[in-house]
This record gives sequence, structure tokens and C-alpha cells, in this order.
Amino acid sequence: MVTFMNLDFNLNIFITIALIAFITIMIAYIVNITIKQYLKKVPNLKEFFISTILYLYKLHLKLDPNLEKKILPFEEEAPYPTLVHPETINVCNAKCIMCPYPKMTRKKGYMGKKMLYQLIDESAANGTKEMWLYMYGEPMLDQGLGEKIKYAKQKGIPITYLSTNGSLLDEKKAQMIFDSGLDRITISFDGTTKETYEKVRVNLNFEKTLQNTETLLKLKKEKGLKKPEITLQIIKMNNTNREIKAFVNKWKNYADVLDIKQVHDFAGQVEIETNKGNWAVGLDKHDLPRLPCAWLWYKAIVLQNGDVAICCFDYDGKVIVGNIKDTSMKEIWNSPKMKAIRRLHLKRDFGKIPLCNNCTAYQDIDPKIRTKAYLNYLTFGLYKDNLKLND
Ligand SMILES: C[S@@+](CC[C@H](N)C(=O)[O-])C[C@H]1O[C@@H](n2cnc3c(N)ncnc32)[C@H](O)[C@@H]1O
Ligand code: SF4
Repeated sequence: MVTFMNLDFNLNIFITIALIAFITIMIAYIVNITIKQYLKKVPNLKEFFISTILYLYKLHLKLDPNLEKKILPFEEEAPYPTLVHPETINVCNAKCIMCPYPKMTRKKGYMGKKMLYQLIDESAANGTKEMWLYMYGEPMLDQGLGEKIKYAKQKGIPITYLSTNGSLLDEKKAQMIFDSGLDRITISFDGTTKETYEKVRVNLNFEKTLQNTETLLKLKKEKGLKKPEITLQIIKMNNTNREIKAFVNKWKNYADVLDIKQVHDFAGQVEIETNKGNWAVGLDKHDLPRLPCAWLWYKAIVLQNGDVAICCFDYDGKVIVGNIKDTSMKEIWNSPKMKAIRRLHLKRDFGKIPLCNNCTAYQDIDPKIRTKAYLNYLTFGLYKDNLKLND
């Protein structure tokens, strides 16, 4: 009898343990699959952490709609722009199908050195970190480009950058780029086949851009140069979708950076097939309520004639807040007009500025800053005072 009871008892324990083990394995299996699936979307642990915190943040926002106003670092006044984006030339040799350049009606030409150098002097003195020397046009058409970059470097701008279509970037121009001290360059190379490239980059020649790109990469390597950092970029759109993989395979061992850039519609001003922004991994910015556009707080746009626009999507300069010919950037940056624009964004009154109203590619605050702000809020109750927009 005792023996039978013991047997029963042992059997019960065995079944219980087996059951617990089975359930644990099943849970581990499901969790493992879920994590693996999630990790497929999230390339590394840091992104995983940021995305998870942002997910919680999103849930919290539903409970407290005033959360963002409490914790994010926006005021009507802004410090001198850390990123200054002067349009050194607004003439182009192409008519790309996704670019508003072909529709531009404003006067075309070069930005004079006197005006640009004044801007560089002021920006260097006020701690600007980056200067982007291009906008709507092809920078390689500007014969004074090398000198302009050199000047910015001599004045101590830490990062100089430009984007080019690469069509004119022959060996001589490559040498000019190396001599200038340029820090970063993007070659916009939309396609891996002649057919696709020339359909997108109208007026340009596939073989020429290919040869120029290979020459730039080869010369930089041969000379053992660290700079400029070379990014090869393809815009992700209907015409190029099929070639993204081939693009990555072709260039991954040669370029410093590969940029698969999501096409956007320049605040509703060009026709494209999709305008969904790609913001943080696993979380689209359009899932969250729209915030003030971070660019208004740190990025200054100066068009070829000196007009200061509020946004780099404003290809025809429709919303202008001043001109650097007669006013300093410092004054324009906190002028009544600029502050009024920021005020509208702070009130989420985007509809009062038609350009902003139609925008889907606005510069959302960096996910890292949101995460930091949220963690500060949760853990120490610290608010926006120790956060900078452009860390
Ligand atoms: C207007 S272009 C001027 C510089 C130069 N001409 C070039 O093509 O690189 C500046 C950048 O905008 C990109 N671009 C043009 N149209 C775009 C669109 N619809 N969506 C996203 N980027 C676009 C270009 O590829 C380039 O990197
Ligand atoms: S994307 Fe660049 S190359 Fe093409 S039309 Fe616009 S400015 Fe010119």
C-alpha cells in the first residue's frame, strides 16, 4: 500500500515536473521566436532598446496627451544654427523625375563668395558644427566650389558636406575635392542599370557616373586618404525598388557608407508613389502625434540669393524670413517672423503654414533624444533642461 502511494506520489511529481518543463520550453520557444522576429527588424541591441522604450512612450502618450509638452526641448528662441545649409549654386545639368528642380522658377546662378564668406565667418564664430554646401543644383558646376570649401575649413567649420549627381566628378574634380578638405560627400546614384538610372536621372549618362564614382573611390584608396567620407546613395522608389539589393551588393565593399534613402514628396510639391517616412526601426514616425519640426531649431537654409528659407523643401523660396545681404543670420534666426513660425509649430498649428501643412517628411526629433527625455522623466522626473536637440 505504502509502496503504491509512493509510486502515485512519484508519478504525480514526475507529471508535474514534465508539465512545467513542457510549458517552460513552449514559452521559451514562443519568446525566442518573437524576439528573433523582432530582432530581424532591429539590427542591434541599442536600436532594440530605443524601439522598446519608444513603444512604451507611445502607450504612455495615450494616457497623457501633454507628455511631450512637458519633456521635449522646444522654446520660441533658438541658439545659433548648428547646421548651416547655403545653396552655393542653383543650376543643374539634370532633370531628375523625383526632384523639384525642373519646376523651379526663381532666378538661377552662383552664390557670391563675399556673401558666402560672411556667412561662414559668422557661423564659425557662433559654433556652427556642419555646413552643407549645395541645395537645388549641381555643386560641381560651380567653378569656385573648391575655394568655398577650403574657406569653410580654414575658418574651422568641423564638418563640410555636399551631395552631387556625380556626372561631372572626373579625376580633376576628384583632386579638387581632396585638396579642399571636404569632410563628407554623397554621390546620388539611382540605379544599377543604364535603363533605370537614365529613366530617373534624366539628362545624365550611366557609364559616366559609374566611371567617376569608381575613380573617386580608387583615388581615395590609392592616396590613403581618410577624407572625404564617401556615401553612395540610392533613392528607394518604384523605379529603383528592384535594384536596391544589387546596389548594396555592388558597392558594399567599396563605399564608406551606403544610403538607401526613402523618396519623399518635398512637402507635397512633387509627385511620387509613396510618401511614408522611415523614421525609427520598427516604429514609423506617423504612428506618433506630429511634433514641431526639429529643423526649425537647428538648421538654417540660405538660398543662392541670400534669402533665408524656413525649410530645405521650399525649392522656390515661398516662405522667406530674411536675407543675409542686409541682416546677420543671428538676427534672422530669432527674428519676429522666425519666432512666429516656431510658435505655430509649438501650438501644433501646422495648417497656418501651407508648406508645413502638406509635409510628411518633417524632421522628427531624434529617437535617441525622445528616449533620453522619456527615461529622464520616468526615472528622475528631470525635464527638458539637460537635453539638446542636436547632440
Ligand atoms: C536636390 S539634390 C542636389 C544635389 C545634387 N544635384 C544631387 O543630385 O545629389 C539633393 C539631394 O536630394 C536628393 N533627392 C532628390 N529628389 C528627392 C526625393 N524626391 N526624395 C528624396 N531625396 C531626393 C538627391 O538624391 C540628393 O541627394
Ligand atoms: S536631384 Fe540633383 S541632379 Fe537631379 S535634378 Fe535635382 S538637383 Fe539636379
